Amino acid sequence: MSHREVDLIVKNATQLLTLQSENRGPRRGVQMEDLGLVSDGAVAVADGHIAAVGTTRDVLDAVSPSEVTKVIDATGKVVMPGFVDPHTHPIFAGLREQEFELRIKGASYQQIAASGGGIRSSVHSLRQSTKRDLKEQARPRLDRMLALGTTTAEAKSGYGLNLKDEIKSLEAINELNETHPLELIPTFLGAHEVPDEFKQNREEYIRLVCEEMIPQVVRRGLAEFCDIFCERGVFDVEESREILTAAQNAGLKLKLHADELAASGGAFLAAELEVISADHLVFVSQEGIDAMREAGVIAVLLPGTTFSLGLSRYAPARRMIDAGLPVALATDLNPGSCMTESMPMIITLACLQMEMTPAEAITAATVNAAYAVDRDQQLGSIEVGKQADLVVWDMPNYKVLPYHFGVNLVEMVMKSGRVVYRQGQFLYGGG
Ligand code: NIG
Ligand code: FE
Repeated sequence: MSHREVDLIVKNATQLLTLQSENRGPRRGVQMEDLGLVSDGAVAVADGHIAAVGTTRDVLDAVSPSEVTKVIDATGKVVMPGFVDPHTHPIFAGLREQEFELRIKGASYQQIAASGGGIRSSVHSLRQSTKRDLKEQARPRLDRMLALGTTTAEAKSGYGLNLKDEIKSLEAINELNETHPLELIPTFLGAHEVPDEFKQNREEYIRLVCEEMIPQVVRRGLAEFCDIFCERGVFDVEESREILTAAQNAGLKLKLHADELAASGGAFLAAELEVISADHLVFVSQEGIDAMREAGVIAVLLPGTTFSLGLSRYAPARRMIDAGLPVALATDLNPGSCMTESMPMIITLACLQMEMTPAEAITAATVNAAYAVDRDQQLGSIEVGKQADLVVWDMPNYKVLPYHFGVNLVEMVMKSGRVVYRQGQFLYGGG
């Protein structure tokens, strides 16, 4: 290795989790246990990218620090890639904490939605908000994500449900991405629900999504993915196929909310369309799991949603991993079914409620999550050439992460080699 000038070195990490592997592609089966762990590890960063990684001795041999090189000592700490949160709905106005209480008192998510709450109540408040207001409400959410170790998040529209307000939401996401260190990957979710004004005429709403919203979103470059809520009582498989096919033909990559509240056929549609990810999957069948595996679909699981809805049935992560289906984890951050920014919390739930091991859960929140947003070339592991998105954790080994729950053990976050959060302080405007 030639001696290379570097901007930053993190050294002496008690455990450096590189997530590097010989295996290409999303990690599946026993591969999900392999964290690419280096004891006494170091990472060197140049121009925002990883220039060297290995043991502290090897890295210090390979690179030449200059007077301006920042050196971070991670003795006694764990260093790993920033989390990629591959499923969030961060653009909404106002909260829905009253629905949380109604559920405690026995109402179901579907009952609340049918009586005027749910997604449609968030649509009502988003339509009345300006873009500036939406960005102001979203910014502290992005700050919290960063402080909890997330350096990239997929972000959906879906509370506008008309051309103007879906565009407004996607513009808010794109503008936040420009101005906030958390990297956002925008997803168009115009098919999150049928808005009230089209309840008697759902075909017309689907036509609007396919023929007006999708072309405009694509023409203006506002989204990379298209998602849909394929669920009993929302969009059925045929409608979902129609919308996703229109999106694919227009050049968007595909995701779908599948089998969240009932077995709705979403997993089979995901396999048929070879989407990048199918998300939720609480009610997926073994045949659905097998079909997704054969089609190369990634399962994005959202145990925070099951938890926050007060339900007891979680997605069958264990069966998926044992069947060789790659699993990723996400928060599902949204005001209705899962109000959390915390990937550490999701990891704890994945371990306790879905029998994932700590190593599997970390793989699912980093490298597999990067695959779920089609960023495996840039993110999700600490490898030479990838973006230097790193988190230093105040813990002696990674198994402490799910075990010591409900607190934030993140000490430092680096986005593209820049320290953006350190010991409770945000090192950028805002925060
Ligand atoms: O992923 N399932 C659809 N969307 C969200 C819920 C959105 C809401 O209730 O506002 C979810 O659970
Ligand atoms: Fe969702």
